[in-house]
Order: sequence, then C-alpha cells, then structure tokens
Amino acid sequence: MARADRAPHLGTVPPDPLFHARGLTKVYRMGEVDVPALQAVDLDLFPGEFVVILGPSGSGKSTLLNILGGLDAPSAGTVTFRDHVLTAAREAELTQYRREHVGFVFQFYNLIPSLTALENVALVTALTSTAHGGQPADPADTLRLVGLGARMDNFPAQLSGGEQQRVAIARAIAKRPDVLLCDEPTGALDVETGKLVLAALQRANRELGTLTVIITHNASVAGMADRVLRLRSGRIVGDERNAAPIAPEQLVW
Ligand SMILES: Nc1ncnc2c1ncn2[C@@H]1O[C@H](COP(=O)(O)OP(=O)(O)OP(=O)(O)O)[C@@H](O)[C@H]1O
Ligand SMILES: [Mg+2]
Repeated sequence: MARADRAPHLGTVPPDPLFHARGLTKVYRMGEVDVPALQAVDLDLFPGEFVVILGPSGSGKSTLLNILGGLDAPSAGTVTFRDHVLTAAREAELTQYRREHVGFVFQFYNLIPSLTALENVALVTALTSTAHGGQPADPADTLRLVGLGARMDNFPAQLSGGEQQRVAIARAIAKRPDVLLCDEPTGALDVETGKLVLAALQRANRELGTLTVIITHNASVAGMADRVLRLRSGRIVGDERNAAPIAPEQLVW
C-alpha cells in the first residue's frame, strides 16, 4: 500500500483500514433503463479519519454511504469492515453490524418528541450498551461533548434545529460506534447553526477517534476535513489529504 493511502495524523505505524471497498458498483433499474449510481469504486477508510464527501446531486454520495452503513447492497464489488465481508453478510448480521458499529446522522433529526434530549440519548445507550461488551457512554457526558450540557431536559420542540441535530449526533455517538456516517447533517440549517453542528462532529471525532464521514453540498466544509473525497457520476474523481484542517468557525462560506 502506498504511504499516501494512510491516515497521516495517526502516527508512524499505519493502521489497517476499517473499510476496504473494491469494485463497488450500484445500478438501479428504472423500468427499462439502468441508472448507474456507483461505478467500480475502490476505497479504503481508516480509523479516526474525518472525511468529507463532495459531489453534485446524483453523483452517488448517499448510495456509497448507505452501502458502507449496511443499509444497501451493491450490485457488484465487495466491502469489508475489519475482516468482516459486509457484502456477503445476511440481513441479521447486517442488523447487528449497524447496531453495534455504525452511528447514522441524517438531514432530519428523527428525535422522539415525547422524550427529553437526555432521554433520547439514554434510550439508545440502554438498547446498545450490552451489545459491545464495553463500557456504555454516559448520556449526559455525551450531550456535554456536543455542547448541550444546559439543554438536556428540553424536549425536541424546545430546541433549535441545530440543537436537535446535536442531540441526534450525541445519540449516534453514545453507543461508541466505530464509524459515524452523516448524510447532509447541516442540509436543513443556516450557516452559523451548521458550523455549531460541524464543530460538534469535529470535537467528537477528535475526542473519541471515531471514523467520521460527512456528505455535504458545501465545498467550504472541505477545509475542516482530514481527507476530501470527490464523487462525479458514481466515480471517485478526487481523494486529497488535508495536512492542516481548520476549525469550523474559521470556515468561510
Ligand atoms: N432507490 C433508487 N432507485 C432508483 N434510482 C436511484 C435510487 N437511489 C438513487 N438512485 C439514483 O442513483 C444515482 C445516485 O443517487 P444518490 O442518492 O447516491 O446521489 P447523491 O450524490 O446522494 O445525490 P444528492 O446530493 O442529490 O443527495 C442518482 O442518479 C439517483 O437518481
Ligand atoms: Mg444524497
């Protein structure tokens, strides 16, 4: 493996990739027409990386994320997670994989309206803490990590959009996933609120070392990433490392 394929900030001993994808192809059949969503994508993702995926609408970003998260299967190609071949896994194994190893954050927060912020996070830790065999994260600590220490007892309707999204992030990281997959997490937010959400994601990534993958339409977010992937027409057309990622507050957009 070439040195450039390795996560530079993780020291001199290169880690094994967490994800190893080869020849990933996804074709959707629409009536008589085949719509190619991914075309022979090769990709390695490493523990602890903060990765931003950019690309025009329809370029295959969500398709790639959903395959990594075990929500969708490719038409051809393989994905391994550690030494686990996801593309050969049965549905029950994929369910377990998602529950134990993957955190998802989507554009809309999907919080339970009748539960407080703290209860929304605690619900997930209660459901998943035994699965890992590890120490469950404290829901209150996790909310503090995303800057919501003072909002824990609020219901979702009493929180701003950015605060609700940070509860969703806390919920996703509270089970200490190996990877956090975020599909347009700031898509519904204004600029300043979006920066707070990105700051929470960056802080969680730095403190927990969780591989974090963020899809965004906003090219300026690339400045805070360790690595930027560019998709076009279902192919990776750019894969750059960023030696000096900046804080979201410094992004200009
Ligand atoms: N369930 C589906 N059925 C048919 N075609 C699909 C389906 N999902 C995605 N596609 C097609 O696959 C291609 C890639 O879609 P994808 O959702 O991955 O793009 P994207 O880069 O996430 O776009 P956006 O930025 O608009 O979210 C598009 O041409 C899309 O129309
Ligand atoms: Mg998408």
